[in-house]
Amino acid sequence: ELPQSADLIVFGGTGDLSMRKLLPALYHCDRDGRLSPETRIIAMSRGGLDDADFRGKVDAQVRGAVPIDDLNVWERFLGRLHHVSVDIGGEDTAGWERLGAMLAGHEQRTRVFYLASPPMTFGLFCRQLERVGLVTPASRVVLEKPLGRDLASARRINDEVGAIFDERQIHRIDHYLGKETVQNLLVLRFANAFLEPIWNSLWIDHVQITASETVGTPGRRGYYDHAGALRDMVQNHLLQLLCLVAMEPPSRNDREAIRDEKVKVLQALRPIVGGEVDRFTVRGQYTAGESGGEQVPGYLDEPDGTAPTETSRRVETFAAIRAEVKNWRWAGVPFYLRTGKRMPHRYSEIVVQFKDVPHSIFPGSAPNRLVLRLQPSEGIQLHIMAKEPGAGEVALKPVPLSLSFAETFTTRVPEAYERLLMDVLTGNPTLFMRRDEVEAAWRWIDPILGEWEAHGTLPEPYPAGTSGPAGAHELLGRSGRTWHEEASE
Ligand code: BG6
Repeated sequence: ELPQSADLIVFGGTGDLSMRKLLPALYHCDRDGRLSPETRIIAMSRGGLDDADFRGKVDAQVRGAVPIDDLNVWERFLGRLHHVSVDIGGEDTAGWERLGAMLAGHEQRTRVFYLASPPMTFGLFCRQLERVGLVTPASRVVLEKPLGRDLASARRINDEVGAIFDERQIHRIDHYLGKETVQNLLVLRFANAFLEPIWNSLWIDHVQITASETVGTPGRRGYYDHAGALRDMVQNHLLQLLCLVAMEPPSRNDREAIRDEKVKVLQALRPIVGGEVDRFTVRGQYTAGESGGEQVPGYLDEPDGTAPTETSRRVETFAAIRAEVKNWRWAGVPFYLRTGKRMPHRYSEIVVQFKDVPHSIFPGSAPNRLVLRLQPSEGIQLHIMAKEPGAGEVALKPVPLSLSFAETFTTRVPEAYERLLMDVLTGNPTLFMRRDEVEAAWRWIDPILGEWEAHGTLPEPYPAGTSGPAGAHELLGRSGRTWHEEASE
């Protein structure tokens, strides 16, 4: 089936996300023959560029980051690119009119407005699009995260966008859902029979979800001061992973059935309120240290062109939370969530730790762990106990049964954004967040943020290159558990 013609209009089209993720992903789609010959990519920004300038910029910045095996394909891709300068929210409407002229006569095509701009611009852009008559029945709108900064602002944005677009046209992106291994989690759980009977509190001791990054936030303080790890990573990516681990088997693999089950998990999260926030959450901020063999500055000294403020001193670059899903399947099973910048290794994984044997006849037994590695080296490992070879005393050792996707499948693993962009173009919102999902996630996050903000205490410091503040280890240590630390790249 031939791909349909589409116009993809990217607001914030010359920004970091566009240059680092969206354009490389679109190039890959083009290279694989998944964009129709007429499909156009129109970047919107304040930049004052014309098409030739923009193509030059993409040629300079993106070409080196993607594999080019055929220059004609690259030229074809560049030929799809256009740039329209807009005066965002200002008086000058020339940009909107130019966009209107480019789209005129193409009303039947799929039209995607991708808002890769700050969330407070979402409502404004949607109103402008409506005002100049660009919203057609075949239009879709993509909202980049973060969707607001708390429940109230998320609702406001949802109302504003919802006044112009139907919920079916709105795609709220969480790029973690586009990752291969994340989708594989659904297949692992729901296309294999052996796990389901033990996927519950009778057999599982606890679950750990970690997104550990080595990068800091140089040049990003403007954004990060007002986000912090809880809003930037936990409210969206980590809670989505928690949902996929904890959800009930959906009756169908379709957009509503899967999202219905995820919402139920979010609604079952036990609220963490008042004094519990201190016991069940940890926040940290990196100080100077060594990362990747180099001395790096602390968060407050990151080169950013501006001096750190009181807000900078309070923002967390690390967060850990002990969550609980209050339902029949999961009662009493802690879900530990953790994410941080400037950690020793870059990896994201989900660890399901099973209960220990009820009665051990061997010394040194340890519980089984199922490790789902999302990145890098995507794969699944089941740590089982084995006997170390030898004629003496029986000695046990945990050894992994290991599935590496790279070794098992030779096809290229697509980037999350490729999958998600194709889903938008073909109109499949299953891997996008529905309004009630986003709001349910904020409803759980809000009291934690509120307590942190009311607190007056600063985040716990941790030196760059270490695995977070002491509090994060105590969070598990209190119940005799430890974080699964895996040395990776
Ligand atoms: C983004 C966050 O959503 O995810 C970034 O805003 C973070 O701060 C990034 O670095 C991590 O994504 P990935 O795909 O590299 O794990």
